[in-house]
Order: sequence, then C-alpha cells, then structure tokens
Amino acid sequence: MTHEQLSRLLEQTEWSDEDIVRVLALTDPEDCALLQQAAYRRTTALMGNNVYYRGLIELSNVCTYDCRYCGIRKGNHALKRYTMTLDEVVEQAVWAAEQGYGSVCLQAGERDDPKFVDFVTRCLRAIHEATVSDTLPNGVGITLSLGDQTPEVYEQWAQASGNRMALRYLSRFETSNPALFEMLHTGGGKQQKTLEKRFECFNSLRQSGYQVGTGVMIGIPGQTLEDLCKDIRLFQQLDVDMIGMGPYLMSQGGDLQEIGQMEPEPLLQLSLNMIAVVRLVMGPVNIAAATALQAIRDDGRELGIMYGANVVMPNLSPQSYRTGYQLYDNKPCVNDGPMQFASELERRIAAIGRDIGWNKPGSSLRWCQRVGVEE
Ligand code: 5AD
Repeated sequence: MTHEQLSRLLEQTEWSDEDIVRVLALTDPEDCALLQQAAYRRTTALMGNNVYYRGLIELSNVCTYDCRYCGIRKGNHALKRYTMTLDEVVEQAVWAAEQGYGSVCLQAGERDDPKFVDFVTRCLRAIHEATVSDTLPNGVGITLSLGDQTPEVYEQWAQASGNRMALRYLSRFETSNPALFEMLHTGGGKQQKTLEKRFECFNSLRQSGYQVGTGVMIGIPGQTLEDLCKDIRLFQQLDVDMIGMGPYLMSQGGDLQEIGQMEPEPLLQLSLNMIAVVRLVMGPVNIAAATALQAIRDDGRELGIMYGANVVMPNLSPQSYRTGYQLYDNKPCVNDGPMQFASELERRIAAIGRDIGWNKPGSSLRWCQRVGVEE
C-alpha cells in the first residue's frame, strides 16, 4: 500500500474487516506515523482537545476469582491482601476532587458478598457527600470497576453515587475469542467466567443508567489480528461508551508464565495501532490510555493519547498499598506519590498538545448523544 492509499483508507468511516486487520498489522514507522496523525486528528475533530483524568483508587486486592493472567488472582498465596478503610477511600476521592480531577474510579479484586457490597455503597455515599461543592455541584463523577454483580447491586450503587449524570462502569471482556477466553479463565481446574455473563451485566448496567465501558487485552500469545478485529466488532455491536485496552503483560503472580509475552516493541506498537483503529472505527467514545502501556515504555500513556485516547487514570492509591496491586509485572508508579505523578503528567500531556479537562465530568460523547444530554 502506498502512503497515499493508506492516508485515504484512514479517512474512511465505514471499515471492512480486511482494512481493520491491515491497519492493525502496520509496523513501518512512516505508516504508523500516518495512523497516529489520523487518529489524533479524528479525536480532536470529534471531541476537542481535552484529556480527562479519573483518579484511580484500588480499594482492595482481595479477589474471589482465579483469572490466570492476573497477579492478584485468588490463587496467588504469596500476596498480602489489603482492603482500605472507608476513611482512606474518601480521603483519596476528596484529594482528587480538590485537584480538579472531576471524577474518580473505584477498582478492586472481585467480590460479591454482602459485606463488600455494603462497604462500596457506604464509600459511594460518603464520597458524594464529601465532594459536592461550588466547583462540583453534583459531586465528583464516579466510575466503578468492580466486576460482575447482580442488577440489584448495580442499582444500589447507582443510587448511592448520587450523580447519575457521571456514573460509569468498566468491565473488560478481555477477548472475544471463546477458546482463548476459556483458557484465560480456567483457573484451579474449573472455568470461572463466561462471556455471556459479562454481556448480561452490561445490559443491567445500562438499565441503571451507567455509561458502559469495556475492553480487551492486546497481544495475548495465541490471539490473532482477526481476533482483535472481532473484538472491535463486538465493541460496535454492544455500542459501548468507553473502551480501556492495554497490552497483555506477563505476571509473576499469575498462572500463565508458560505462554510468555510478546516482545515489548511490537507489543507496544500493536497496542497503539489498536487504540487508533478503535478511535477511527468507533468515533466519539472515551478511550483510556491504559497504565499497562507505561509498563512497556515510560511515555507509553502519552503515546496512547497521541494515538487517539482521551482519558488517563492517575493512580491515587496510598503508596503503602501499591505493591499489593500489581496485576502484571513492572507496573509503573509503584514508588511515586500522587502529587509527583500528577504534575509530571500534566506537563507531558501539555507537551503533546492536549489540555486537561479540569473539574469536568468528561462523559462519553457517544453516551451524551444516545441519551440526549449536553455536557
Ligand atoms: N496484563 C495486562 N492486563 C492485565 N489485566 C489483568 N492482568 C493483566 C495482565 N497480566 C487487566 C485486565 C483486567 C484489568 C483490571 O486489568 O484486562 O480487566
């Protein structure tokens, strides 16, 4: 393909599977630069110049599942488990609100017992109460990343959040390839998760008014470019509002060392290509520049933004807990304080021509269009 042909292809809004796979496969630096520029331009044209922060609070690493790729899976007995106190969680959220982040994301290992459900409910109420102010009249926006729950639990949390206009849920389906999904989720000899269950959860989340986000891991050994293309088709079919995707990285605490991982450089490029293609194919959804990008290269997240991402999730968890939340090896910022990270990140984001959407909810434009609201 000549550069002219590629440039023309990148302007299209309806994509064939063949074109998606072709663009995912790009490795030539000049071709990749064309892709990067096209995705960045499309992002700006659709949604302007803002990048939104979600302050990430990893409130517990206790997990009841055994996903084989994940460093905090239940079967990793070497890991010391923690759960933050309600006060610690609220303190982090208030800090984020005071910094102007506009929203926070609560993430944890998966639990669905009543004690945990109730703890999250109390955190949500307290965060809302503590963050309503003149600058944030509806309190801080809330994103939850807490796994499969019942429709009743999703609804209970939605009510407790006090702010349904900036209420979001992240739940990656990891891969649309059924055999690969099964392999990844068959820990301790039995299959623990199904794609169908995840999709049911998306429906319940929609019913309760959440902006729904999903995503996949990129470059899992055995995953093909055609698989990634199918992942994108599924994003379209589910008509999701937000996407979070990052490279698959080996984890010492996981149970999959034998499959290895891709070489860092091609893995990073594939991940960036995937972000760019999703932007070009899906239009005005929110796309996060995943932390895992930064595990490969120091400026990985900025590269994600250059390839079309518009959300970053700075980690707010107190330093003492960070080593306990390593989903994969070489997780960055394990030794950074949130202040240090934030000021450095702001400078880096400005350097690539984006502004931070301070004190804004930063809702998915796709969601705003679907429900007919303006931000
Ligand atoms: N490499 C990359 N991403 C991972 N996650 C978990 N373990 C890994 C890993 N080894 C991602 C999964 C999960 C999210 C919380 O973290 O996609 O949905």
